[in-house]
Amino acid sequence: VGCCLPPPILGWLLRHSVVMCLLLHSVVLMTCFHHAATSCSQGCYCSESDGRGKTVRCSNLRLTEIPQDLPNDTRRIYLDFNLLTEVPSNAFKGLPLLSELDLSNNELATLERGAFRSLGPSLTFLDLSSNKLVNFNPEAFEGLRARANLTNNPWHCDCSLQMAMPHIDLEPLSLTGIVCETSDPPDVGAEGVPFLLAQDLDLCVVMKKTTDVAMLVTMFGWFTMVISYLVYYVRHNTEDARRHLEYLKSLPTKPGHPGPGEPRGELRLEG
Ligand SMILES: *[C@@H]1O[C@H](CO)[C@@H](O)[C@H](O)[C@H]1NC(C)=O
Ligand SMILES: *[C@@H]1O[C@H](CO)[C@@H](O)[C@H](O)[C@H]1NC(C)=O
Repeated sequence: VGCCLPPPILGWLLRHSVVMCLLLHSVVLMTCFHHAATSCSQGCYCSESDGRGKTVRCSNLRLTEIPQDLPNDTRRIYLDFNLLTEVPSNAFKGLPLLSELDLSNNELATLERGAFRSLGPSLTFLDLSSNKLVNFNPEAFEGLRARANLTNNPWHCDCSLQMAMPHIDLEPLSLTGIVCETSDPPDVGAEGVPFLLAQDLDLCVVMKKTTDVAMLVTMFGWFTMVISYLVYYVRHNTEDARRHLEYLKSLPTKPGHPGPGEPRGELRLEG
């Protein structure tokens, strides 16, 4: 305080040290009171305006976790330019009025299942731009119909993303923000293209082909087994039959079975 006051006043204060003490005391008290009125959880700045409700600003605070003590009547939260790496399940519970959520310019790579659960009915805008999101987890957005900014993330477009697309409730235009940085299969022209707009792209084709080939191989395997068994069976039985025949041939011929000319011969001998 002393440094900012002009020397005459400082001198006067020094001469009236009791007054100065009181003044300092009130300044400290005022500072404390001021602090309590405007800052809420973890150094965030809270403000309230008539009709627009409560706004919590936690921008640029090097936060690594989402504050858990946010006022329950918050309508807007700015958590941009922090160091958040994930949004855990139910991270924003107990905020029934929250309508705007800014999580842009963080290090977000994971959005857990049900990350925005309970915000479904109230949230209208969700900013996830400029993060590290690679895979789209539709379960993270369950029940959410908000407009979302998903741009400027290193999206990896593959079959699982294609399968997830029809199950996303977010405002459809939001999905144009998913611009593929990499893709699987790699050389199908998906890179640099908003996934939603690349309509003739089918990233599941390769997988279907692989499944078909696997089916074919399996069927061929079965077929080969059946044929081998048949061949073995036939061969084995032929050998058995041959051995049986040879055995029969090796037996001495029985006299009790005369040939067709013999009886007459016998008769002739008798006569
Ligand atoms: C916030 O919590 C207080 C105290 O628990 C409660 O009276 C109030 O209704 C809550 N506000 C909202 C918007 O839920
Ligand atoms: C989405 O975020 C990007 C980068 O932060 C910004 O340039 C763009 O205007 C935003 N788009 C919308 C629709 O808010």
